Amino acid sequence: MDGPAAQRSNLLTKRCALGADQDVPHSPASQASRYADAMASATNSSKSPAPDPDHVDRLSRFITGLPKAELHLHIEGSLEPEMLVELAARNGVELPFADVEAVRAAYSFTNLQSFLDIYYQGAAVLQTEADFYDLMKAYLVRAHADGVVRTEMFFDPQTHTERSIGFDVFMPGFLKAMADAETEMGVSTGLIMCFLRHLPGSAAVETFHAAADYHDQLLGVGLDSAEVGNPPENFVEAFDLAAEAGLHRVTHAGEEGPPSYITGALDALGAERIDHGVRAEEDPALMDRLAMSGIALTVCPRSNLELCVIDDLADHNLKRLADAGLTITLNSDDPAYFGGYVAKNYLDTALALDLTEADLVSFARNSIDATFASAEQQAEWTRSLDDYVDGFGLSG
Ligand code: HPA
Ligand code: ZN
Repeated sequence: MDGPAAQRSNLLTKRCALGADQDVPHSPASQASRYADAMASATNSSKSPAPDPDHVDRLSRFITGLPKAELHLHIEGSLEPEMLVELAARNGVELPFADVEAVRAAYSFTNLQSFLDIYYQGAAVLQTEADFYDLMKAYLVRAHADGVVRTEMFFDPQTHTERSIGFDVFMPGFLKAMADAETEMGVSTGLIMCFLRHLPGSAAVETFHAAADYHDQLLGVGLDSAEVGNPPENFVEAFDLAAEAGLHRVTHAGEEGPPSYITGALDALGAERIDHGVRAEEDPALMDRLAMSGIALTVCPRSNLELCVIDDLADHNLKRLADAGLTITLNSDDPAYFGGYVAKNYLDTALALDLTEADLVSFARNSIDATFASAEQQAEWTRSLDDYVDGFGLSG
């Protein structure tokens, strides 16, 4: 990968305040100092010295082998530029980009909405069951390579149904790829159907009913898309229906939106996990509530960096949240757009925040505990995590 997006994916800092096309360093000298070791793929944040390549390599291998769950991944956000271009050609979809590099160069965001505009545009190349199969399978191969033993993935049905691509197209594609990945790689999977919060609550209810043939195949429902101005209370009816159908409930909240949206997600929607949730820190009573309840936050550090929630990974508050007793997990969100899959999120965060292996083990342990899998399955993954950690002579 070349070009601005490639450079950015190796950075732990971003110049959001300067604007989208100035968010990478321009001087070759500064780039040379930042990219001293391309193999390590982990140059330092602007706030700490360059890491030792051997340390990066060791840490990277430790992270990749660490059994973990991914709990915040939008499958449409795993659409890599190469696949986007290939599917556009396969389906005769005209793209406003000349080639893969032009697609990558467009991945420069200033906030959540600037990302969503491109993300929904990209999803338009997904048209047939085979496309959805290929998308899902490619992500699961990458997740497996990153040490993911369980992934509970979001999908956005309204992004497809509004283009007249029905549940009977994307669901069989997703489900076949998940079954194949389970058989071939042993990755355990679940699907969480997200409602788009920039659309009305009534559209979420219609979507819930449109999915009726597949309710049994769903793990839960979620809420995503543009947060500010679209509070959780708009979606009570759809979430109540989901609860009655025995589905789990999770909600994006406190990414760009205020802490009151996190409280609303808990009170109005019965959210069992909070996706992002980093703005909880602004409300001490909410912090206490989250710490006491053990409700996990599915934090996505590279996403927060790329969407300008933070300017520098070294500024991320996830360690402070963990130290305050909150249950923190690390995830990739939209890895094709934000410069890395889950292991890259662990690595970049560890380097930027000077985390120890024990910190990383605790995030991985939290991720397994916060899955919606059975207690038996969780215990099995936890045993393999403990065995792995023992093999490194670490206590988790
Ligand atoms: N936030 C909200 N909606 C989304 C995101 C996100 O990070 N990614 C995909 N849809
Ligand atoms: Zn998300």
